[in-house]
Amino acid sequence: MPVAGKVALITGGVGGLGKAFATALLQARAAAVCLVDINKRGEETAEELRKKFPTNQTVEFYECDVTDYNLFKGAFDFTEKKFGGIDIVCNNAGINALDHEIDKSIKAFRLNLEAVFLGTRLGQMYMDKSKGRGGGVIVNVASMAAFMPIENCMAYTGSKAGVVALTKVAASEASLEEYGVRVNCLCPSFTDTPILDYVEGTREAINMIPGHHILKPEFVAEGFMQLVEKEDLNGAIMRVTPQKGIDFYKDHKRVPSFSVAPSKL
Ligand SMILES: NC(=O)c1ccc[n+]([C@@H]2O[C@H](COP(=O)([O-])OP(=O)(O)OC[C@H]3O[C@@H](n4cnc5c(N)ncnc54)[C@H](O)[C@@H]3O)[C@@H](O)[C@H]2O)c1
Repeated sequence: MPVAGKVALITGGVGGLGKAFATALLQARAAAVCLVDINKRGEETAEELRKKFPTNQTVEFYECDVTDYNLFKGAFDFTEKKFGGIDIVCNNAGINALDHEIDKSIKAFRLNLEAVFLGTRLGQMYMDKSKGRGGGVIVNVASMAAFMPIENCMAYTGSKAGVVALTKVAASEASLEEYGVRVNCLCPSFTDTPILDYVEGTREAINMIPGHHILKPEFVAEGFMQLVEKEDLNGAIMRVTPQKGIDFYKDHKRVPSFSVAPSKL
């Protein structure tokens, strides 16, 4: 999909990776990006991006808790109404939690997994080609934690594994339900964003792992752009790691042995 002229909605768009994805889309001449985030400082980020890309491109901030279906749907309504349609959805908002933090762990499951499910369904509905919209692409942000568990972070690890699994189902629905919406999954390794400051000493610990270093958000954004642009990628599970760079989890093209076609909403 050529990104020029397209409209994108990014959850967690004010955070480290979300902002890097927005920047990469604007560099590729996306027409508009809506940053959907619970962080009230989002307007500052939107203004910063508007100044960086001053031509006819637009950046909007929409304050929203994406774990609330109706509020999240409001972000899709806003973006569609303001820009005339949506072509790219990135379900990126996520948090970490330690196992002894029960309330925070519940929030992590709700944000990292439930909200990704909601954003995937909303993306399918708001880009549904069979209902007269233009089709498009969804990128769900999981993590390498989906494959290599992070000790003491059950909610984070479990929710990210769930994102990989639900992406495979949504991808098979692209043709089954004729949505015309590709769905891919991005699994970065540790990346230099504020999430690494959640537990003190994380950065030092990562740098001590042999052969490991913390990735730059711009490098992860290169992988993100491939998942958006390459029309042959649907159900792709992309890894971004310091060891292998950008590659794919080997069973990314696996299709279900049987399919149950749910009736359309
Ligand atoms: N940085 C890493 O090392 C790393 C590695 C693998 C995967 N990831 C994933 O990348 C994604 C982005 O994380 P990041 O590294 O940019 O961290 P970040 O903390 O910089 O960004 C997360 C963003 O999500 C927003 N957010 C939190 N709760 C929300 C809610 N209820 N509704 C809407 N927005 C909400 C935050 O305000 C923040 O802007 C996450 O899903 C994270 O799990 C990060």
